[in-house]
Amino acid sequence: MPDFAIRPNAAPVAADLRGTMLKDPGFGRVFTDHMVVVKWTEDRGWHEARVEARAPLSIDPACSVLHYAQEIFEGLKAYRAADGGIVMFRPDANARRFNDSAARMAMPALPEATFLRALEELIRIDRDWIPEGDGSLYLRPFMFGSENFLGVKPSAEYLFIVIASSVGAYFKGGKPGITVWVSENYTRAAPGGTGAAKCGGNYAASLIAQKEAIGHGCDQVVFLDAAERRWVEELGGMNTFFVMDDGSLVTPPIGGTILPGITRDSLIRLARDEGLTVREEPYAMDQWRDDARSGRLREAFACGTAAVITPIVEVKGVAHDFTIGNGGPGLETMRLREALTAIQRGTAPDPHGWVRRLD
Ligand code: PLP
Ligand code: COI
Repeated sequence: MPDFAIRPNAAPVAADLRGTMLKDPGFGRVFTDHMVVVKWTEDRGWHEARVEARAPLSIDPACSVLHYAQEIFEGLKAYRAADGGIVMFRPDANARRFNDSAARMAMPALPEATFLRALEELIRIDRDWIPEGDGSLYLRPFMFGSENFLGVKPSAEYLFIVIASSVGAYFKGGKPGITVWVSENYTRAAPGGTGAAKCGGNYAASLIAQKEAIGHGCDQVVFLDAAERRWVEELGGMNTFFVMDDGSLVTPPIGGTILPGITRDSLIRLARDEGLTVREEPYAMDQWRDDARSGRLREAFACGTAAVITPIVEVKGVAHDFTIGNGGPGLETMRLREALTAIQRGTAPDPHGWVRRLD
């Protein structure tokens, strides 16, 4: 692992201003004083790791990522635990997914230890930016091709950077439930494509559909599979779960076209630990509508690091307009949210060893 040089910001945000910024941070607008930068070149591998003042990058206009979008990222949170300590939730899983994304995008692997060290150094130096109460510090590790070259090939140089953002709820005003728009015109990922990778390009391609959703008064877009336009895949930035009237859960299977969410995986394990039945199986859009109408479906929710667990209360689309349950947050959804966040914040036992403490 490269040595990490620590160069504290000479002009950090003053404590009283930081306090004001942390009062109602929203999502992804309040940034901390520092960042971590690590370089990769073909001859030296990963080197020159540093923690330094967060500042604009200087990039040549020929920098390959600006043209061919060879970029991947991760998202995870650090919390202030009940006992005052600082914890991260399953950062090793993010490290592994980061390397799976890197492999798909023909980028170099980053050793898990370097990924974790970068997160810990940044949290340590910016610990005062973790909001009290329900807030958290959202960590955004990312890597991009930084070679200045216009030929289409994997970059010969990369930068790995971590920034951090003090966050509250992802949806404005901490919405109790969201409305989703079923995209008929656009798909997110096709077999053999990059749907399972957390690459910026997937999100760029999703924006027009997300814009359409907002245009119809919805919060998020639902993507269907590219081949048949029949099966529910995931939302623009979240996985989905369905709660049936027999208490079982259904979630679309991981198969290369959806992001293997760490929240999704944690919920599957949590629910199975409790003796609930969880089926990872395709769920058709028409079935979703029919089940919502017949009452066979009781609840639906979105889940992800940013969204945590957010009830889906209404579904709209060219061919769809239906409400789920009584149109409010479902009991089971809120119970699962409580169970997961209690583990994340250290107020419930952690049987799987998911929580990583900073010393
Ligand atoms: N699906 C997409 C497209 C996402 O962007 C995210 C968020 O990271 C998720 C699902 C949920 O993944 P995770 O639970 O690991 O945050
Ligand atoms: C996350 O939850 O970390 C994501 O990347 C999704 C996005 C909505 C911010």
